[in-house]
Amino acid sequence: MQLEGQVALVTGSGRGIGRAIALALAEHGANVVVNDVMAESAQQVAAEIEARGVAAMSAVADITSEDEVKAMVTAVMDRFGQIDILVNNAGITQDNLLMRMSEEQWDAVLTVNLKGAFLCTKAVARPMVKARRGRIINIASVVGLTGNVGQANYSSSKGGLIALTKSTAQELGSRGITCNAVAPGFIETEMTARLSDEARQQMLGRIPLGRPGQPEDVAAAVVFLAGPEAAYITGQVLTVDGGMVM
Ligand code: NAI
Repeated sequence: MQLEGQVALVTGSGRGIGRAIALALAEHGANVVVNDVMAESAQQVAAEIEARGVAAMSAVADITSEDEVKAMVTAVMDRFGQIDILVNNAGITQDNLLMRMSEEQWDAVLTVNLKGAFLCTKAVARPMVKARRGRIINIASVVGLTGNVGQANYSSSKGGLIALTKSTAQELGSRGITCNAVAPGFIETEMTARLSDEARQQMLGRIPLGRPGQPEDVAAAVVFLAGPEAAYITGQVLTVDGGMVM
């Protein structure tokens, strides 16, 4: 129970990778705030967490709105009096080839994946700086390192998130706060269920471990970065991709 007594806020944890992260943090003793725009999913995950014997709170907020993010963080502080771990996980895709990509597709993806992480980081920074401790973990993607056909918006948002990780690590390091990124490869969730069989086979062919990742593979890396053994690690990108990018 290495995270006992700590409070974690996981954005977009109503399903997929975020849900697995929320459950894994709870299994290690953390009380968890389940943020999502989907109220019912957030409540369901919060109930699953409470069944593990720790406290949970569902927080419906759109991370692209500074007002909603601020209100969420205030509500968490009112309830728990602390925020020790922030996981910026919420993300979307709107794929298209660059020449066909609309301004709306560009803006939508950058706004959720990058601005949303910035707003949440900014909002939790104050209580973390005051407490002189904190862990911020950003869920990026291997395409933030490599780029990807059809994902100019998404890969730019994830590359930006990696740069945000390093800037945050540099600005907040002296206050006892670490900031790292996890860059997953091909993980089986509703996000990737939309891929065609052909795209799926192509991806699998590029993974030395020969299988897609599971949300729990990503969650394990987050638990490590949130835990005491990662106290001296900051500004890093941990790739969890079965060896796809090396
Ligand atoms: P998902 O689509 O299954 O779940 C994303 C969750 O975020 C949903 O519950 C959604 O309602 C929530 N969300 C979306 N916009 C939001 C907003 N504005 N405010 C609050 N919540 C919002 O996606 P998945 O696969 O679980 O991905 C989670 C993260 O992992 C994303 O950042 C994604 O980019 C990243 N990732 C996923 C990979 C994969 O293969 N599935 C690979 C690399 C990165």
